[in-house]
Parts: sequence; C-alpha cells; structure tokens
Amino acid sequence: MNTRFLDACWGKPVDRTPVWLMRQAGRYLPDYMRVRSKCSFLELCKTPELAAEVSIQPVDILGVDAAILFSDILTPVEPMGLKLDFVPGPVFETPVRTMADVERLRIPQMEQDVPYVLETIKILRKELAGKVPLIGFGGAPFTLACYMVEGKGSKDFALIKKMMYTAPEVYAALMEKITTMDMEYLNAQIKAGAQAIQIFDTWGGILSPSDYQKYVLPYTTRLINGLNRQNIPIIHFVKGSGTMLDIVKQAGGEVMGLDWHINLGKARDILGNMAVQGNLDPTVLYAPKAVIEKEVKRVLDENAGRPGHIFNLGHGILPTVPPENAIHMVECVHRLSQK
Ligand code: CP3
Repeated sequence: MNTRFLDACWGKPVDRTPVWLMRQAGRYLPDYMRVRSKCSFLELCKTPELAAEVSIQPVDILGVDAAILFSDILTPVEPMGLKLDFVPGPVFETPVRTMADVERLRIPQMEQDVPYVLETIKILRKELAGKVPLIGFGGAPFTLACYMVEGKGSKDFALIKKMMYTAPEVYAALMEKITTMDMEYLNAQIKAGAQAIQIFDTWGGILSPSDYQKYVLPYTTRLINGLNRQNIPIIHFVKGSGTMLDIVKQAGGEVMGLDWHINLGKARDILGNMAVQGNLDPTVLYAPKAVIEKEVKRVLDENAGRPGHIFNLGHGILPTVPPENAIHMVECVHRLSQK
C-alpha cells in the first residue's frame, strides 16, 4: 500500500517525494484518446466504468502516487439547471446574469443527480485496492461562478467582475448557492470513498488581494469548514495566488497548491507548516530529458527536504506533451528525492 501521498498531505516524513499531475488523465495519453474516440467527453464522465478506466491509466503508465477521479469541475453545475456542453471548452447555453437566474438554480440531490460520479469513486476504490489513494475534487465557488456567469471561458472575466461591483447582492446570492452545492457535492464524494479532496480555484488569481479577501475567501472558507474531513486532507489550489498566499491560507485546508510563478521555498516560508503541492511549469515537459531532470531537481532543492511536499505541475498537463516526458518527470522526482 502506497501512503506516500497522504502522509505528505499531513506533513509526515516520507521515503521519497510523492508525485501526481493535475489533468493526468487526458488527451496527451494515446490510451485516453482510444477510449475518448468512442464517446464525447461528457459521456465519458457519465459512464463510471470508462471514467474509472481513464483515471487508472496514469497510475499504470506514469507510476504516480495518487489517482484522481475523472470528471470535470462543471459536472455538478449542470443539474443546478444549466445545460452544459464542451466544444472543447465548456459552454453554458443560459448563463446566470440576474437575481431571477440565481433563484431558478436548484441544489442537486447528489445521489440522484450525479450518481455516475459517486459510482466512479466506488469502482475506483475497488480497482485501486489501496495501490494508491484516490483524490476527489471540485471547483472552488468562485471559479464555478466565473463559468456560470460568463457562460464560457474568458480573457478578462469582465461579466462576473461587473456583477461583483454593480450587483453585489446577486453575486452574493449566487456564491452562497454554489457554496452550498459544492459542500454537498464534495461531502458526497467523501462518503463514496474519496481519500483526499482538491479544490480547484483556477481563476481566483484574476482578483486583487483585497477583492479576493472580500469576494472569494468567505465562501471558500465556509466550503472547507463544511466538509466532513476528519481523515481527509484538503488541497486548495488557487492559480495565480503567489502574491496573496497569506490571505488564501486563511481559507483552511492541509495543502496549498502552487503554480510556477512563485519560488516553492519562498512560498513555504510564507505558509509556515502548511504542506505544499507543486510547482513545475507545465511547459517544461516539452524540454529535452536533461532539462526536465534539472528543473525537477531545482523544485526539490527549493523545498530543501522539508516534510509536506507533494510534487506536481503548477497547472494541468498540456494535451500535446509527449507521454514519455511525463514518465521521465515522475521517475526523476522519485529517484532524486529517494531518502
Ligand atoms: O486531473 C484529472 O486528470 C481529472 C480530470 C479533470 C478534468 N478537468 C478533465 C477534463 C479535472 C480535475 C478537471 C478540472 C477542471 N475542469 C478545471 C480546473 C483545473 C484547470 O485546468 O484549471 C477547469 C477550469 C475545468 C473546466 C474545463 N474542462 C475546461 C476549461 C476544459 C477545456 C480546456 C481544454 O483543455 O480543452 C475542460 C475539458 C476537460 N476536462 C478535458 C478533460 C480531460 C478535455 C476534454 C476532452 O477530452 O475533449
């Protein structure tokens, strides 16, 4: 049984640094493309046997120390009443713009509305059989709200920021509702067998530190406080938060996810004894093998042997990365960190 990942989440010493990759199940793997060629991305998320199969692929192929549920952060938003499509980026046909739109959103009944997510977790726990732990995940309320208000990805997220500043009561009502949904969703994942939870706040870093504190922190804090997490570590990843880690830390959780814009050692100095996850620039995986090794070593050196480090990329692996480079990265982390 490999407990390296969970041990590191709790800040315990480990024999070598655990490693996994955000988006490790995905299009860079030919095995994923083979499964994906038979159905759409959403169909894949909604078919537990197939979702479990692609979750396990990177465990076998890369030798990572954790599996992550295969789904999407937007999966539980669809049963709130927003029809979702991927083209390949996410698109909501009827974005949320007014108080009436917020009031129409429903809080899903998780067992009935997203049974496939819970079933995928149950299958994964059985098939992984303790080989590596299983990470469940959700989007942070703010990142979910970004997609729900914009209706799709955006360069500047002007619409949600405009809502925040000009209709704060609509923004607050929306964030409250999303937070409640998220809490029930992640607690359902824990009940189904998720052994750690990662909260993805991909867009939290588009706000100034003071706006983050005012418009995001209260909701993520309420979410984390509301999780049934006696033995379940929480990883909080806010992309672009290197300049406000002291504020983001107040949300709670055991592990801070770091993107590559901050030196990992400096981040650890700011965070005190909180564990960290990260933070190799994902594009380093396009580099020659020797450069990948050098960059892995640099990140490990920045951590300087402190317990509570999970190696990861600073954001998701890119779809055109050669799989052998990802395999090489994992091998370097294990070899160079071996005690
Ligand atoms: O990490 C994993 O392997 C688990 C699966 C996972 C997916 N999405 C699968 C996916 C996870 C953890 C996510 C999280 C997610 N989804 C985030 C937060 C992390 C991040 O990358 O910032 C966000 C913002 C989304 C929303 C989303 N889903 C976008 C913007 C896109 C399209 C972007 C792109 O790369 O094309 C998706 C689609 C998506 N989610 C794919 C996968 C494997 C590609 C779908 C396909 O097969 O066509």
